[in-house]
Amino acid sequence: MSEIVFSPFQIRDRTAPNRLTAQAMEINSAENGGAVGNATLKRYLELARGGWGIVFLEATSVTKSHLARQHGLILSEKNLTGFKQLVKQFKSVDPDTLFMIQLTHSGRHSGEFSKKVKAYPDNVSEIPLLSEEELEKIRHLFIKKVALADEAGFDGVDIKACHGYLGGELLRPINQRKDRFGGSVENRAFLISSVIQEAVEKFPRLLVGSRFSAYEGIRGGCGTGGPGEILEDLDDIRKTVGCMVKAGAHYLNISSGIPALTPQITRPAKKGYFCRYSHFRYTKKFKEWFPETAVIGSTYTTGDLTSFTHAEENLVKGHTDFVGFGRQNLADAEFPKKVKEKVGSIHFCTFCGKCSKLLKNDQNVFCREYHKSSPYL
Ligand SMILES: Cc1cc2nc3c(=O)[nH]c(=O)nc-3n(C[C@H](O)[C@H](O)[C@H](O)COP(=O)(O)O)c2cc1C
Repeated sequence: MSEIVFSPFQIRDRTAPNRLTAQAMEINSAENGGAVGNATLKRYLELARGGWGIVFLEATSVTKSHLARQHGLILSEKNLTGFKQLVKQFKSVDPDTLFMIQLTHSGRHSGEFSKKVKAYPDNVSEIPLLSEEELEKIRHLFIKKVALADEAGFDGVDIKACHGYLGGELLRPINQRKDRFGGSVENRAFLISSVIQEAVEKFPRLLVGSRFSAYEGIRGGCGTGGPGEILEDLDDIRKTVGCMVKAGAHYLNISSGIPALTPQITRPAKKGYFCRYSHFRYTKKFKEWFPETAVIGSTYTTGDLTSFTHAEENLVKGHTDFVGFGRQNLADAEFPKKVKEKVGSIHFCTFCGKCSKLLKNDQNVFCREYHKSSPYL
């Protein structure tokens, strides 16, 4: 195994002990009101023992009004003590792994039980359109929640702009709003990049960045060339992400697709080589375009150790700085440690799809192939 995978990497003045990243995975197991409870603690302490370089806390809502899941985490004053406890306990197990929180607003992908809202007008849905004033309030809400993330002790924040949620919806070429949140590249990137800029300026301890979908696979979506285009053309998303870099982003976390619409892009099947290699290709492009910014790639789950072959190759060639695992971190939270120390048998993701199904059905998520019932509850 090449040493590069387990070599440290510096983002600004912080060092991740290795390149293996546990990407955010919603386990949808918060307690009432989106609070951190025993289930969330158990899950992240398992990851803390796993020897990862970076761990992202699952998508955590900045608001209680627009939630994707009934048991999703909500970062609020009321819930702050729980988040502080979570970071403290995580750090007592592993002080070195960078522990970051992903902040989200679910927008039009809020659940039926919650309030759906959309970022730009379309004639396909009855979902209410957010006004400029409402978007401005949401922008301030993100900044407020970055302050809470800092107070909780996280090493960094991820301003979520991937997978079709509000942040990502705003970035699309099809977002031709006539106010400061739509139209030009700068306006479409305004919410995300202005939150990044304020976070960088006001909270110097935090690493700040964003996870976005390089290509969504929908007409006028991210990674297309215009409002009416469906084909991949990365020029627009390169410029949009350029605004985040200009705002001071310390890292870019590259994903793709929209799980609710184009899941095969976001989560390639075991033999979904084309989609997996497309992720690698996008990440390589962003690393070439923004060489000074740390880059995290996605979709390294392969169900076997070829994930490490991919990781090693992409790191050695300089196509990425970090390699991100989603389903594999759920299938075996201690995957890095087991590979490195050659101890214990690794439980590989089998691509059974049950974790995605649990999430879709708004149930508590865990790896059903590994545990018969949730190990977290
Ligand atoms: C159950 C489940 C929950 C997920 N939750 C999140 C999340 O909270 N935030 C996010 O950015 N991506 C989320 N994802 C996407 C994963 O982080 C990852 O991008 C995806 O699984 C593809 O990577 P993989 O091939 O390594 O699994 C989730 C995926 C699944 C299956």
